[in-house]
Amino acid sequence: MKKNILILGSEGFLGSVLLPYLKKSNYKITGVDKCFFGKYNKNLKNVRIIKSDYAKLNKKFFEQFDFIIDLVNISNDPASELNKKFTKKINYQNKVKLYQKIKNLKNIKRYIYMSSCSVYGNNKNIINEKSPPRPISLYSKLCLKYEEYLKKNKKINFTILRLGTLYGWAPRMRYDIAINKIIRDMIFNNKVEILGGEQLRFFCYNKFACNVIGNIINNSNKNTLNKTFNIGNFNTNIIDLTKHILKLTKFRNASIYHEKHNIDKRSYKVSTKSAKKFITKNNILSNLTEKSILDTFKKIGRDKKPFLKRKITLTIYKEFLQKYKV
Ligand SMILES: NC(=O)c1ccc[n+]([C@@H]2O[C@H](COP(=O)([O-])OP(=O)(O)OC[C@H]3O[C@@H](n4cnc5c(N)ncnc54)[C@H](O)[C@@H]3O)[C@@H](O)[C@H]2O)c1
Repeated sequence: MKKNILILGSEGFLGSVLLPYLKKSNYKITGVDKCFFGKYNKNLKNVRIIKSDYAKLNKKFFEQFDFIIDLVNISNDPASELNKKFTKKINYQNKVKLYQKIKNLKNIKRYIYMSSCSVYGNNKNIINEKSPPRPISLYSKLCLKYEEYLKKNKKINFTILRLGTLYGWAPRMRYDIAINKIIRDMIFNNKVEILGGEQLRFFCYNKFACNVIGNIINNSNKNTLNKTFNIGNFNTNIIDLTKHILKLTKFRNASIYHEKHNIDKRSYKVSTKSAKKFITKNNILSNLTEKSILDTFKKIGRDKKPFLKRKITLTIYKEFLQKYKV
């Protein structure tokens, strides 16, 4: 029997790469999204996309699925601070209601929740999943709060993936995430502005994240059951990263404008030992950092509308909140 998979937040940055990826495995796929940024999977054959708030789905709806992959979040620090009530509802309160709807459904083999390594906040030591989190923004505080809820309630089988900052090309493109923004600014502004830049960050190639999710669905065994994993490819600081991208791509027409003042308080260095042991053991994508950056560079270079407002998460949520006076 084909595995029946529900993806919440299917039309976002990660969803717009994940659905075409999972489709290759011949799963039955349904996506649900409020489509804040548009619809990107509507042309995929045999994939059903439902435009809806995930909070409006009733209990009966969930009875058909084996796996739920939850990609819904207001997932950008400044966007999450725009209207705290709105963010709390989407990122936490409605997730608890969702949990209440599905907690007794025997059909659901695994609920995979996309959390973030930003739960580590400002942490000097190398961090593993057991290190104490120190979330700073509302977004990361709510990620952690919902992680704790999942762990405490133990009614459904879950896996929590703490992703590093994503990068890579996607049909729903985002230029508010570091690597994508650096590359866009290099190519189209001939200038990269760095604030601070000493802050350490952990990065995750979007195709690698898809591969990890696919792996968990395929081998939904004890190794990943009710566990939390850091998922990503490499740690670096923003200055070294920018210099590395310029060198790697041999792009000579951009300069770096470095402002020492830093408003970003997050800095952390992440260990992926646990994911390597249980999920990504022989995963070639985990070692293709340079290739993934070059691929991202090539595709961004072909973007005909790199400054489209819907490619910036904050702009779209700001407009939505103003228009509907939420
Ligand atoms: N992008 C990153 O760098 C990053 C890093 C770490 C973790 N994550 C996590 O990965 C997941 C996916 O991130 P992304 O970059 O694809 O984000 P995204 O903002 O591009 O996608 C989220 C999707 O959720 C949808 N959505 C929002 N509220 C909804 C609601 N109430 N009902 C239905 N749909 C709703 C949006 O329309 C959007 O399509 C998120 O959970 C995020 O927290 C992302």
